[in-house]
Amino acid sequence: MHGKRILIGISGGIAAYKIPLLVRLLKKSGAEVKCVMTNSAKEFVTKEVLSTLSENIVYDAFWDHDDGTWNNHVDLGIWADLFVIAPLTANTLSKMSSGTCDNVLLASYFSLRKKCIVFPAMDLDMYTHDSVKRNINQIESDGVKVIPAATGDLASGLSGQGRMPEPEEIYNIIQDCLLPNTLLKDKKILITAGPTYESIDPVRFIGNHSSGKMGYALANAFAEKGANVTLISGPTNLHIKNSLIELHQVTSAKEMFELVQQNWNQSEIGVFAAAVADYSPKNISDSKIKKNEDELQIDLVKNPDILYWAGQNKISTQKLIGFALETNDEEKNAIKKLNKKNLDAIVLNSLSDKGAGFGFDTNKVTILDKSSNKLGFELLSKDETANNIVTYIEQLYK
Ligand code: CTP
Repeated sequence: MHGKRILIGISGGIAAYKIPLLVRLLKKSGAEVKCVMTNSAKEFVTKEVLSTLSENIVYDAFWDHDDGTWNNHVDLGIWADLFVIAPLTANTLSKMSSGTCDNVLLASYFSLRKKCIVFPAMDLDMYTHDSVKRNINQIESDGVKVIPAATGDLASGLSGQGRMPEPEEIYNIIQDCLLPNTLLKDKKILITAGPTYESIDPVRFIGNHSSGKMGYALANAFAEKGANVTLISGPTNLHIKNSLIELHQVTSAKEMFELVQQNWNQSEIGVFAAAVADYSPKNISDSKIKKNEDELQIDLVKNPDILYWAGQNKISTQKLIGFALETNDEEKNAIKKLNKKNLDAIVLNSLSDKGAGFGFDTNKVTILDKSSNKLGFELLSKDETANNIVTYIEQLYK
């Protein structure tokens, strides 16, 4: 959930003691978390714990009396992609339904621009009281998503409906809400990215100018849709941003090939964006080659064509997408590759387009597929291009 901004509102119920675990789960998933709490919530969980785990200030008042600063009461509501109120007490519920705004949590709720999910938690008789039911109906009709309380042992010693769900369950509900239930959720995606370096001697190699940006942007776009991504990358300066991406770093085409062979069977979709060196030195010198002669010849041998191998070992439910970088007869050459490598689609980058290709942050691509469809895009950022490619693949997967 990298980059998602989650505001957690904590009102004063015993279940508040579980919220630090939820904050930890969300932070581990890459989300940004801020907490806002009512005064009575502080009886059950401390600001210090929440602030340490969320790595953010915790808001509990309109004014910070220590340094006299005013906490803008609408900032949090504008900041959040999602407001999760857990536990939601009968008191805070009542204020939400009636429009009472006497603390920062409520001010955040009334200034919220996006979605709100609440987890009511209270004793069983309170939970079934007509006024609580009425208030729940009211906030539901105001657009709030109300998650029914769980059943089990309650703090009062009684047993029944009124428990707050466990942090793991709350986390899953948040994830479902933020990551739309796309076809790609939980799908296993294999991506190759970056250049490969083929050693000549201990200090030199044959490589290319690929930055890996396109492959990493694709990995991110898939992960944003909830897919599990295995990213096999040649040497780059890039970092992964999403916990759904498993990164394997390799150097040579041979290493990349071995990892693809290990992972392709279990994958549902493969997108091969790596700029794999076509040849590598026949012999790698054990010691640094000295410049004794005026001319030096290095014998090269063909590297395995990784994408071709995947195409030959593809079953009908798998989808395989390759890239083609062409300088002339672009579409013709790309379609040749599509057929030869048994692909479902190929993404054509043309080096003749200004701002497209190696090293740039932008790209201009055309997708050609085996049903002879052609989909051209403008010059866009690599992130936008990746989103377009992923949206196309999602349609293909349908
Ligand atoms: N590819 C691969 N393994 C290789 C060479 C290419 O997996 N040894 C993949 C690339 O990741 C890309 C596609 O094949 O998805 C096409 O790569 P490209 O370099 O455009 O084509 P080649 O097949 O190498 O043909 P040529 O260099 O002759 O154009």
